[in-house]
Amino acid sequence: MQIIKFNRELKERLDALRQKGSVGFVPTMGALHDGHRSLLKKCKSENRIAICSIFVNPTQFNDKNDLKNYPRNLEKDLQIIADEGFDFTFCPDEKEMYPTPDMRQFEFGNLDKIMEGKHRPGHFNGVAQIVTKLFDTVRPDNAYFGEKDFQQLAIIKYLVRTFKLPINIVSCPTIREKDGLALSSRNLLLGSEERKNATLIWQTLFKAKSLQNELNVSDLKKWVIEQVNSCPYFKVEYFEIVDDLELHPILNWDEKNNKVGCIAVRADTVRLIDNIRFN
Ligand code: PAJ
Repeated sequence: MQIIKFNRELKERLDALRQKGSVGFVPTMGALHDGHRSLLKKCKSENRIAICSIFVNPTQFNDKNDLKNYPRNLEKDLQIIADEGFDFTFCPDEKEMYPTPDMRQFEFGNLDKIMEGKHRPGHFNGVAQIVTKLFDTVRPDNAYFGEKDFQQLAIIKYLVRTFKLPINIVSCPTIREKDGLALSSRNLLLGSEERKNATLIWQTLFKAKSLQNELNVSDLKKWVIEQVNSCPYFKVEYFEIVDDLELHPILNWDEKNNKVGCIAVRADTVRLIDNIRFN
């Protein structure tokens, strides 16, 4: 596996290989876990050339402490990516990706007005800045994103539609710990009691699904929030049930759209997100 630090070099290397077959791309911020690994495996199995990027993108962090504390583990990450048989890892530094400040402002319609977009102002603009830069360098045929970050996935799909990018976005299911907690680089930052209790988040979402026939949408939302807030380690930032394309709030179970319940929970300074599909 080759480690590349410069856009221009990566572009040249990939251009020389494109005629061999499809290019698959997994963008990440590193601190790789089995969730990332599932994306790597899928990407490798579906493409001739496989490339992963590791870049902790400062423009998508609206909280400076969150950026500072974000776990970094480059050596281990590179080993994981090499073990998965990848051809390239792109790990540029900040100057390489932002030689001048990126002033672009993206418009996402309703997609960034709620949930993560509302609670992390500017977050998705930063995601769009870096992902469009990475797409421009890599020009992948297929790019792999996790459903764990459901709103991010909707936003990436929207970007690809709006700019008519010739990229197939592949959504990958959420990988969980044995106790149900969705794998996340941020899980490393949880204290031991917080970690032990964090199973409550997925358990509550899972139970909520079975209560769908008994409670209306609004009562179910209240129930989920109360359940999670009943644990002293957690504070729910939001729980919303939305349609899976436009992310408009679902008011009634009779609506025909596919429905997803999305939650963000604060465990002291660590934010955890998760989601579940309803029928
Ligand atoms: P990061 O949080 O490193 O995640 C990289 C990819 O891994 C994302 O597509 C994310 O949805 C996926 N992922 C994370 N946890 C997962 C899990 N438990 N199961 C399945 N997939 C999972 O998302 C980002 O980085 C950044 O915003 C990025 C897109 C790289 C732009 O900077």
